[in-house]
Amino acid sequence: MTNSVVISGSGLWNPPHSISNEELVDAYNAYATQFNQQNADEIESGSVTAKPLSSAEFIQKASGIRSRYCYMKDGVLDINRMRPAIPERSEEALSDQAEMAINAAKLALEAANKSADDIDVVIVSCAYTQRSYPALAIEVQEALGIQGFGFDMLVACSAATFALHRAYEMISAGTAKGVLVINPELTSPQVNYCDRDSHFIFGDVSTAMVVEHADTATSEHVFDILSTKAVTQYSNNIRSNFGYVSRANDVDPYGADKLFHQEGRKVFKEVCPMAAQHISEHLERHELTSADVKRWWLHQANINMNSLISKKLLGREATLEEAPIVLDRYANTASAGSIIAFNLHHKDLQAGDYGLLCSFGAGYSIGSLLVRKR
Ligand SMILES: CC(C)(COP(=O)(O)OP(=O)(O)OC[C@H]1O[C@@H](n2cnc3c(N)ncnc32)[C@H](O)[C@@H]1OP(=O)(O)O)[C@@H](O)C(=O)NCCC(=O)NCCS
Repeated sequence: MTNSVVISGSGLWNPPHSISNEELVDAYNAYATQFNQQNADEIESGSVTAKPLSSAEFIQKASGIRSRYCYMKDGVLDINRMRPAIPERSEEALSDQAEMAINAAKLALEAANKSADDIDVVIVSCAYTQRSYPALAIEVQEALGIQGFGFDMLVACSAATFALHRAYEMISAGTAKGVLVINPELTSPQVNYCDRDSHFIFGDVSTAMVVEHADTATSEHVFDILSTKAVTQYSNNIRSNFGYVSRANDVDPYGADKLFHQEGRKVFKEVCPMAAQHISEHLERHELTSADVKRWWLHQANINMNSLISKKLLGREATLEEAPIVLDRYANTASAGSIIAFNLHHKDLQAGDYGLLCSFGAGYSIGSLLVRKR
């Protein structure tokens, strides 16, 4: 048996509902206008800040996002609610995020030409999990009939790549024969749809990948994982503070400071050079340069970030064929972005072509995998 570890299949599932920038902005602006009318006296006296209006043109120009999928559209556009209305499920029913995970996992298993018997580890890895325990991964494992073990991992935007790293290590070490890495990114409950600066950023999606030994891989599109590289550096610039300790803090667990918020400009300025340096160092390890990489499956937070990073790497703008953009349709889907890009843009690569998957985001965290088509 060789020691080669491969990605042998990927799956992508999106909810049936999507929300365009125009729909989102119309709802937000109606909400903001109503808020400003209802609080006119306080705004006049300076005790309340007026809500500024949003613009679909700004969103597209500043981020590249045109629309996003939403697990439950109901409620998001209701100006008296401004959050998704997701009915609570009983403890006996499959949980929402497990269902999202299973939808993508089945597609990844099919693409990899695998069944439940070929998998012995399930990692559910994403930016938020809907509960602490039992692990979503164990619920997914049970529903798919997989023997072995499963666990959940949270690494914000780098959850998917960091979980693929763990899968790579387990297969290399011989502690697993087949690993399902699943990213059910249910971000919408954590979006502050009342905040003009961030209401447009996120979308919901679910992705999955199968990682196994090259010797057992039988699918059509198999990618050797040549190596992995990860780095984290603490930053307060992207935060989501929702958590169980709020109950003991006697604070509003749903306050604006508990939802996603960021210093977008600072993130942009700090993360782009970090990501470019990280990728260059990863390639140097293999005595490769950026020119040797046929496809860049980059994190999908902001089109201008990706364009700056690829300019730093290539010395020119990358083409859409080289560095595909999916965030126009999907928005920022936390850790799933680079996996969506891979899922939609890998089948045309030829044997021997190099590709690089890279995530970057909250933490800060950056994770990459260098792969080569078999
Ligand atoms: C969030 C982000 C798109 C904002 O774009 P930006 O170009 O940095 O915009 P700024 O926040 O500097 O705002 C520019 C102006 O537009 C305004 N603006 C912000 N949101 C707006 C909106 N929805 N509609 C209209 N105007 C808006 C700002 O108030 C600001 O106005 P001012 O110049 O009068 O102060 C961008 O910073 C970004 O993507 N950063 C990367 C971080 C990231 O994506 N993180 C996700 C988690 S990984």
